Amino acid sequence: MPHSDTLDADKIQTNLKTKWLGKKIVIFKSTASTNDIAAEYSKSKDNDGLVVLTEQQTKGRGRTGNKWVSGISDSILCSILLTNSSCNAELLSLTCPIAVTEAIGHKVKIKWPNDILINNKKVAGILLETKSCRNDKFFIIGIGINCHQKSFPVELKQTATSLDIETHTKCDRILLIKRLLTSMEHWLNIAENNPAKIIERWRKLSILLGKRITVIYNRRRFTGNCIGIDPEKGLILQLDRGAVRMFDASLSTIEKS
Ligand code: BTN
Repeated sequence: MPHSDTLDADKIQTNLKTKWLGKKIVIFKSTASTNDIAAEYSKSKDNDGLVVLTEQQTKGRGRTGNKWVSGISDSILCSILLTNSSCNAELLSLTCPIAVTEAIGHKVKIKWPNDILINNKKVAGILLETKSCRNDKFFIIGIGINCHQKSFPVELKQTATSLDIETHTKCDRILLIKRLLTSMEHWLNIAENNPAKIIERWRKLSILLGKRITVIYNRRRFTGNCIGIDPEKGLILQLDRGAVRMFDASLSTIEKS
């Protein structure tokens, strides 16, 4: 009988070694966007670490206003709610890709801000959203991981991939979600206590460090050499024009080279 990796909260929570992440898991067959569902749960502080998963999204969204499209049960479509984090958005946007990268495995790299690549093709993306309600601030970490896609539309063929394509096997989404939650909790704890370690790990996993790149920021193009990352101010570029400038993750994209 073929092995099924249909989303199942009991299976995910069995032997899950996390302390606070994934204690509550909400699963849908179909929903507009898991990030929207997580936002609804943010009214209660008790929902810190809540995880939303779905087999299908009808209005999945990516960064910079893009759509995030996936066939039914082809991907991990996941949102994690943080109601108690003391981290700033910039540090979180460095931490989440590290956690996703390590959950997926070796040969996986980060393209700042939030693309996860295998063999230079995008296998996962992260949409970090910040909301505030009165004095409370909370974060929603939206993660899409391509798992069972066999091919991609022509406009994505050169740039997108899936775990099944790259590994020539059928990945098990349940196992991968367990690894994702474990890795995410581990790295979020480190972000709270030792941000320097996040920078160190990010530098090892980044494909942009030391490269000449163009950042599009506020519709303007800035070209230079990527010389580092700052946990509060974002990517550091030694501009061709001479100055050193930093770019925050929420407003930046990297021009395709
Ligand atoms: C990107 O690379 O542009 C980010 C993609 C993030 C997609 C995920 S899928 C789960 C969550 N819900 C959404 O609507 N988006 C994120």
